[in-house]
Amino acid sequence: MATRTTNRSSSSSRGRGNGSRSSSNDRSAFNWGESGALIGAAVAGAAIAVAANLGRKAVMQGMSAAAGDWDEVLAAEHDLALAIFDKLLVTDDSQTFKRTMLVKKLTHALDKHAHEEEHVVYPALRDANDAHDADTLEAEHGYVKTFLYDLNEMEKDSAEFLPKVREFRQMVEAHARMEEEQVFPRLKRELSAEQNDRITSLVNKEGFKMA
Ligand SMILES: [Fe+2]
Ligand SMILES: [Fe+2]
Repeated sequence: MATRTTNRSSSSSRGRGNGSRSSSNDRSAFNWGESGALIGAAVAGAAIAVAANLGRKAVMQGMSAAAGDWDEVLAAEHDLALAIFDKLLVTDDSQTFKRTMLVKKLTHALDKHAHEEEHVVYPALRDANDAHDADTLEAEHGYVKTFLYDLNEMEKDSAEFLPKVREFRQMVEAHARMEEEQVFPRLKRELSAEQNDRITSLVNKEGFKMA
């Protein structure tokens, strides 16, 4: 990413230097003329934005990565999601903006979490001959997405909003309990220390992509 940005910046300064050679060069893709400085500034701005976003991701992922092994990282994310549900459940129908923001936050948290499980933990489960649990849990993630779709689409002052949140929370809590109490401990027992570390590293890597 940084290399590409550097190359683009150097193209821009080269282009400006060649500007006086001929009229055909004036139309060169490398000759940005007076707008070159502006474009250069825009590219630099984009690079700063990318760097800031990577920093933000590192902080976000660092917060969950600090929790320890993959199963502890995922359990902490379950707690985080359940806490967002609890904040939603104490809103009233007049707090539509707050509900919109919390639903966005919940969507991001659950998307990131599902991405980590679906790209690392469930494949590891299938490789450890536990395809049945992996398939059951992954199918439930489909219903998580359906609840998120419904909540995002629903009018936030609807009388149906809180019952839907309540039903969704129960489903997520049962799903998380099955993972934390049965599936994750069983998988962890079958992993060597090296495999366990590898899964922790992969979960953090996938989480970073989605942070
Ligand atoms: Fe899950
Ligand atoms: Fe989970």
